[in-house]
Amino acid sequence: MPVQRTQVGIIGAGPAGLVLAHLLHLHGIDSIVVERQTREHVEKRIRAGVLEHGTVELLTEIGLARRLHRERMIHHGIELLFDGVGHRIPLTELTGREITIYGQHELVKDLIAARLDTGRPLVFAATDVDISLDEPGFSYVHDGVRHEVRCDFVAGCDGFHGVSRTVIPRSALTVYQRDYPHAWLGILAQAPPASDELVYAYHDRGFALHSMRTPEITRLYLQVRPEEPLEEWPDGRIWAELRTRLSRNDPGWHLNEGPILEKSVAAMRSFVVEPMHHGSLFLAGDAAHIVPPTGAKGLNLAVADVKVLAEAFAAYYTGHGAKLLDAYSETCLRRVWRIQHFSWWMTSMLHRVDDDPFTRQLQLSQLRYVTSSRAAATTLAENYVGLPLP
Ligand code: FAD
Ligand code: DHB
Repeated sequence: MPVQRTQVGIIGAGPAGLVLAHLLHLHGIDSIVVERQTREHVEKRIRAGVLEHGTVELLTEIGLARRLHRERMIHHGIELLFDGVGHRIPLTELTGREITIYGQHELVKDLIAARLDTGRPLVFAATDVDISLDEPGFSYVHDGVRHEVRCDFVAGCDGFHGVSRTVIPRSALTVYQRDYPHAWLGILAQAPPASDELVYAYHDRGFALHSMRTPEITRLYLQVRPEEPLEEWPDGRIWAELRTRLSRNDPGWHLNEGPILEKSVAAMRSFVVEPMHHGSLFLAGDAAHIVPPTGAKGLNLAVADVKVLAEAFAAYYTGHGAKLLDAYSETCLRRVWRIQHFSWWMTSMLHRVDDDPFTRQLQLSQLRYVTSSRAAATTLAENYVGLPLP
């Protein structure tokens, strides 16, 4: 079996794995990245769209944001829409920071190109990853041949459904989890955004979100039941529901419609494992935690984790010992829990709960408060634009 030797073996070429690989490269640390899917698949996978101020700053500092700066949309506020009236939360006025709209798949394209430019290995279509905890490393199958990677550390950046977390003995982990009684049906549409900023809409029929990718492409989400069959949502039904949930008392506003380019349903859950490492295996990003998407945080949290992890590896390889590696989990989990709370709070405030008039009144009260009190709006804003990176 061919054997490769490296310092850090990285499983998964999503934002966590690829940003980690680049940070390690800048520190002169060698790594191998293996990814189960093809390059084409990961470059087309439509997911997040909102980058925190600090995420963009980090990507800029490490030279990964050239195209992002040319093509991104900068937003200084978001809107909360309820009872047919939009209320703006002026993010920049309240926090001095902005958010960036740039598709995750565009970022992943940039990260892959940067990795390939370094000449260090990135293997797509690497299947059947088998991790060894005793002798740090793993093996994988590529083109029908099993390869072995021996390394000092393994970084499990393989998302929620990856293999890394599953090799840690259950008795060594504490799992915190909450499943929500709703999911998001997301579409990407060839239509100019009908609003300059993101609109989070609370409606009797369920939550809706109006987002965007470019001046020509709108991204929209609808709250649906979990496990909702997509067949039950022909295009006409999606647009009708979006029109209803995003409607305003202002008769001048209308939703722009166009061909639907992509359609998918995503489950909503909160999930954390503690600790985020076991021996030489370190988990980062969605492999260690999931947040419901309402706060637009998952990708940003993945980047925050690998910043901490890369600094800990750098300290280790420059003779400063394993202190930062030992503290990795605790350092990350402080941010993880803050963001868990924010994402749960946004989700609870904005999603319809069936047959629960009491909760509905609490939600409306919270929405009125957050859109009328500067203190409450600032709390939302500083979490939304992102707290400073660790
Ligand atoms: P992933 O992106 O899941 O990457 C993991 C990689 O590992 C994948 O490429 C996968 O193919 C690979 N892999 C899996 N198993 C294996 C294996 N066994 N071997 C090898 N490779 C493997 N976040 C935000 O910050 N802002 C948003 O606006 C936002 N909106 C979202 C909207 C939706 C609808 C969804 C679903 C998510 C959203 N998120 C958002 C969350 C964000 O997309 C994720 O948190 C982010 O992708 C996490 O990055 P990651 O690198 O940890 O994991
Ligand atoms: C998008 C996704 C989110 O989860 C969110 O809260 C805001 C925007 C998006 O895909 O554009």
